[in-house]
Amino acid sequence: MPSKPPTIILAPIRGVTNSIYRNAIAKTFGGIDSAVAPYITTNSQGTLNIRQLADVHPDANLLPTTGQVLTKNAQEFLHVAQIYCEQGMQEVNLNMGCPYPMVANRGKGSGLLTSPKETKALLTDITKKSPLPVSIKLRLGRHSSSELELLIPIINNLNLHSITIHPRIGDQLYKGSVDLKNFNYYLPLFEKVPYYNGDIFTVNDFQKMTKLYPTIIQWMLGRGVLCNPALPSQIKGKIYSVQEYKTHLQQMHSQIRDGFLNLENGKSDFLNKMREQWSYLSYCFESQHKIFKKIKKARSIDHYNDAVQWIFEQEIAQKSLNG
Ligand SMILES: Cc1cc2nc3c(=O)[nH]c(=O)nc-3n(C[C@H](O)[C@H](O)[C@H](O)COP(=O)(O)O)c2cc1C
Repeated sequence: MPSKPPTIILAPIRGVTNSIYRNAIAKTFGGIDSAVAPYITTNSQGTLNIRQLADVHPDANLLPTTGQVLTKNAQEFLHVAQIYCEQGMQEVNLNMGCPYPMVANRGKGSGLLTSPKETKALLTDITKKSPLPVSIKLRLGRHSSSELELLIPIINNLNLHSITIHPRIGDQLYKGSVDLKNFNYYLPLFEKVPYYNGDIFTVNDFQKMTKLYPTIIQWMLGRGVLCNPALPSQIKGKIYSVQEYKTHLQQMHSQIRDGFLNLENGKSDFLNKMREQWSYLSYCFESQHKIFKKIKKARSIDHYNDAVQWIFEQEIAQKSLNG
């Protein structure tokens, strides 16, 4: 019997994987089954960023999209969950992995991993009261991977929709490599098989991981997709000719560019936003460094469009074509 195709979830990457990006990749390269959107922050006044709420609305998304919340406060989480529910969304995710000290020092993101007692109270409360199924995305710890040991029995006792693990600790940020030794130790301790996330950049990386972890069927990919948007479809067996790859990439880029320009005041921050996109997209080309430099030099939208025209005359990287 043929094995079930893997489920691929687009990871949240703040500043990049908003609905404009998610829709652009869904319409062109495809291969992604669902997405988790970058986090929304909460405050005690209950004010929320309207643009971010609209970004996850089902009407604005071609992919099933889960909204993510960055908070340590159950009431504030539930307030967002209620709004998501009214918007017709299906799931709400708690960020338990954000590594940045500004966030973690305030007990949010990976900061939640250092205080199991408070985190247990938070998770118990939100899973009991949330109008939507709750999922979590976490690291192995903030300062040490031993922090997860105390959290697993708590997690096993809760009614969570899913658990996604990025096997780094917060202090690493995105440096070094994923810690598969500790991931191997923790994996069998979970009653529900977690989703895996981290450092899958090629089809080969993916195949290695599926061999190592045959029980895992849900895979979350972030930077690997941003650097090669064909990757999810290549994992699922699609092979691209140079021309086909270039055409898809050109269409995807045009949709992202036009999407940003059509936003209210879209022109004001356009060059910065596109620079962030190209810090990843430039890896699709053989001369990555030259391409990103060209984008960074653009000082106007016209200048930017000229740079892009030049870029699409350059060679697609062989490693992108191969996946
Ligand atoms: C610039 C940047 C922004 C990110 N924003 C978020 C976010 O909003 N929420 C979240 O849970 N993770 C966020 N992440 C983490 C990614 O979702 C993912 O866990 C991480 O990049 C590892 O997966 P990868 O190796 O497939 O990229 C971010 C990562 C980066 C590099």
